[in-house]
Amino acid sequence: MNITKDTLKTLRDQGWARIPSNVHEVDALEARTLEIAQRLGTPVRGRVRSIVEVLRPTAPEAAHPASLSRKYGLDAFPFHVDTAHWTVPARFLILSCVSPGEESVPTLLANRDDLHMSDEEQAVAKSAVFLVRNGRNSFYSSIFISGRDFVRYDPGCMEPQCQDAIRALAFFSRERVMPYVEKIDWQPGESLIIDNWRVLHARDAVNQNAINRLLFRCLVV
Ligand SMILES: [Fe+2]
Repeated sequence: MNITKDTLKTLRDQGWARIPSNVHEVDALEARTLEIAQRLGTPVRGRVRSIVEVLRPTAPEAAHPASLSRKYGLDAFPFHVDTAHWTVPARFLILSCVSPGEESVPTLLANRDDLHMSDEEQAVAKSAVFLVRNGRNSFYSSIFISGRDFVRYDPGCMEPQCQDAIRALAFFSRERVMPYVEKIDWQPGESLIIDNWRVLHARDAVNQNAINRLLFRCLVV
């Protein structure tokens, strides 16, 4: 499967790109998700064994201990990048919609370049220190890092270590970024490429009507 020049341009310009399709068969959609990932780089595993992971709304007690579902369950997820606990977070995420659920639960996207951060906010995001929890491999980091292009931000695994860091958490809070957010209402079979270095994502709360929402996710480095 080819990714068109237009799709790549959209991805470069806005930080994400939607790819509609009429692929509804689950295995075919999984294969398509992997193919898109392979066109963009090297697909890698997250926490689970399969390269293409299934994401479904999960109550805290059933969730992986280090996942956002463990902390937030079916509530809204905060804005974050995926794999913020990696030394270098994944470059792209590919999400594909197996089932949107009976009631739409949009994915929300916020491009760091669209947030109109002041020079002072950017300086604080570069200097304020967080502990990034990753078991024995935990480390200290800031949100922006001099000389690096990625954002490291995930309140699920990053603990502020100073007053400035507590302040910096609010730079990407729902209230702060909502005016600049793009809402993706999922269509069955659709795929979405997210530039995980520049674009943060979040999920609205899931109610019982949307409990069967099912997405595939593939990480790309
Ligand atoms: Fe995520």
